[in-house]
Amino acid sequence: MFNWKDEYSCNVSEIDLQHKNLFELGNKLYTIVSLSQKYDRFDEIVKTLEELRNYTIYHFEFEENLLKLHGYENIEEHKKQHEAFIKKVTSIDEEYMDLNQKKVSMDLLTFILDWIGNHILKTDMGYKEFLNNKGIY
Ligand code: FEO
Repeated sequence: MFNWKDEYSCNVSEIDLQHKNLFELGNKLYTIVSLSQKYDRFDEIVKTLEELRNYTIYHFEFEENLLKLHGYENIEEHKKQHEAFIKKVTSIDEEYMDLNQKKVSMDLLTFILDWIGNHILKTDMGYKEFLNNKGIY
């Protein structure tokens, strides 16, 4: 469902790898949510969502440290976007999610992947040239 496209490339190999991993985790979650609802998949959904959340936090920290190290001037605005996303994903009500499993999981997943895709295309692209000009690929 969430396919990597060349337009997502920031031309920095480690960042591209991490962004690809985020999409892969999103696809893993999508597969679980889409499976037959004959069985309760709540635990599996929560576990994978946790994995996606943790990896996102790891990626944001990596990216922020790299930008800070090279003196990227728009870092504060960029960090604010990261923080708002983490806050949103951390505030998920698991009880409500359990009761409305499929719909809530799908809505949440769509939100997460839309957000990540848009963030990469708009905000992350802002540092592409900056890092490349510093010799970071
Ligand atoms: Fe790749 Fe700013 O997240």
